[in-house]
Amino acid sequence: MKKHLLFPDHPHILHGGDYNPDQWLETPGIINDDLRLMELSHCEVFSVGIFSWSQLEPEEGKFTFGWLDDILDRFEASGKKAFLATPTGARPPWMAKKYPECRRVTADGRREEYRMRHNLCFSSDLVRRKTEIIDSKLAERYGKHPAVIGWHISNELNGECFCPLCLARFYRFLEEKYHTVDELNRRIWSGFWSHRFTAFDEIDPRDPTLEAIRVDWKRFCTEQIRDFLSFEKSVIRRYSDQPVTTNMMGLYKEVDYFRLAQECDFIADDCYPMWYLGEEKQVGARYSMLHDLHYSMQRKPFVMMESAPGVPNFRPYAHLRRPGELQREMLLAIGHGADGTMYFQWRKGRGGFEKFHGAVVGHDNSENNLTFRQVADYGAHLTKLDRVVGARRKIETALIWDWDSAWALEHGDYTHNFKDVNSVFLRHYRALWESNFSLGVVESSGDFSPYRMLVAPMLFMVKTGIREKLEAFVRSGGTLIVTHLFGYVNEDSLCYRPADLTPLTGVEVLDYDCMEPGRSQSVRVNGKTVKVHEAAEVLRNHDAEILGTYQEDFYAGTPAITCRRSGKGCVYYIGANFGDDFLKEFYFDILTEAGVAPMLAGLPDNVKCAVREGENEHYVFLYNFSEQEEFVSLPCPAYDLWNNREVTSGLTLAPRGSTVLVMT
Ligand code: GLA
Ligand code: ZN
Repeated sequence: MKKHLLFPDHPHILHGGDYNPDQWLETPGIINDDLRLMELSHCEVFSVGIFSWSQLEPEEGKFTFGWLDDILDRFEASGKKAFLATPTGARPPWMAKKYPECRRVTADGRREEYRMRHNLCFSSDLVRRKTEIIDSKLAERYGKHPAVIGWHISNELNGECFCPLCLARFYRFLEEKYHTVDELNRRIWSGFWSHRFTAFDEIDPRDPTLEAIRVDWKRFCTEQIRDFLSFEKSVIRRYSDQPVTTNMMGLYKEVDYFRLAQECDFIADDCYPMWYLGEEKQVGARYSMLHDLHYSMQRKPFVMMESAPGVPNFRPYAHLRRPGELQREMLLAIGHGADGTMYFQWRKGRGGFEKFHGAVVGHDNSENNLTFRQVADYGAHLTKLDRVVGARRKIETALIWDWDSAWALEHGDYTHNFKDVNSVFLRHYRALWESNFSLGVVESSGDFSPYRMLVAPMLFMVKTGIREKLEAFVRSGGTLIVTHLFGYVNEDSLCYRPADLTPLTGVEVLDYDCMEPGRSQSVRVNGKTVKVHEAAEVLRNHDAEILGTYQEDFYAGTPAITCRRSGKGCVYYIGANFGDDFLKEFYFDILTEAGVAPMLAGLPDNVKCAVREGENEHYVFLYNFSEQEEFVSLPCPAYDLWNNREVTSGLTLAPRGSTVLVMT
């Protein structure tokens, strides 16, 4: 497969992290220490200036760039690279004091005090003017600096504001969407509880009972963020062509990242697994899924912009990383498509809220502590992966994730205990991951053409045109799997009539039975009886084949799993909430029938893999998610790139071990 290099002038796996020299300007010699330790740890790419507005513009209109000139020049001289940040993740106190409108208003109508970060009002013209000034000064001065390889816009953009400016923009957003209040009334069913509106500004986006409006509010907040990101990018573009990104947070509930992805030249994310809580394999599956999401957003390599080199300060336990854990976590990202693994943070501050957050350089300011040694050891191996840089992934199976749908489920006042779409999504993902299939994550309005198999766990909202799109996917040979709670509502959160999606699925949902703890149903499928918990739909079959039937209660004998063939493909309907073991077997059989092969078959249960495709070779990443050694036998000889050795028939992975093989 043809490579895609994110940074053609720097064809290495990026290694480095958030660097805040602006906090250390009064400490003589510290920058020299940094540069020495950067060499020793093999860290060479840094996100600089993320929260440095009050250092760059200490008083309104007075700018101090000397410190940043110095850092970037030293970077250039020593071969280091920077993602230069716009500083809008946090603003200086003078701005908050002089211009209260830059501070957000809370849901209860209170203008926030000056505190914390990530809290600019995105509607304020003043905020835009101040942002434009600082961003254009940065871009003009450093846009062509040889050390700058890209732009890090703001930080973890998120949040909502209920100030009059934001509310006015929200009403305009509604007007653009619905055109007239009558149309809005019709589409959100506002006759209920006498909510028929006569003007857009009568609508309170905080009203939890206006469930369709709550979804619109979430869409609006995403649009505010997208618009602000796009604005900052346009300022940068006046002076610099370097790629622009912003750091996302995986399946973060409040922002539809597919919308932000459209503004980014490459995807960047922040990633903080807790390996020590619960089962390691479950954590492995969850973070593989998040990496798959980030790869799939643009179907090209991404950068893991933040991860913890040591212990994050906000964790319940300060659990030090165990041997092998850091390397496995970083290789997990690279195997799934990351071309950079970076840390938060390079150096621990002496003060401030995150002074105990793990960092490559600790308060000991030396190369002696455990974290530094683990990072340096990992970094020393990284050049071996130069040939992996830019390699893509072959992905034929994708899961459909949709933020609108998750919001509709969250705000719809229904089935309160069993609507955790994230955990059902992860269960289906894991069932596929367990058998080492290469997976992607796509939105329902995304491009399905690269995939042969789509899985839509609890896709509650089916938006306009999506049923037809799924039908076309199936007719042309795709396999689609949908589950309980599929397509209950349309784009406006209005319920479909029961049979609206029947042309696609071949079944009609008559009822939804929720089973409280202690109760279950059972299903006869593939010659076995399998228990299901929490949710079971009562289905009426139209023109599908019945694969499984309920065994208990008054709906015993009715269909629980069906398959409808259409054109060259088929649609499976899984009407109940099945457990891990059943799903793993079920998916394995379906994928085998569809001719989709695992990346590597016959791996031990605790060992998982990921594959990136080079031009004439592929790179097989192996991960041991257990605390014991695991022996892996290989179908063909390979070269162990990480350990520089030939492997003939197999190899042993150390506890929590990981490695990268080249196969042709
Ligand atoms: C986030 C932020 C960083 C830092 C880390 C701590 O990812 O972007 O600024 O606060 O969390 O883990
Ligand atoms: Zn506002």
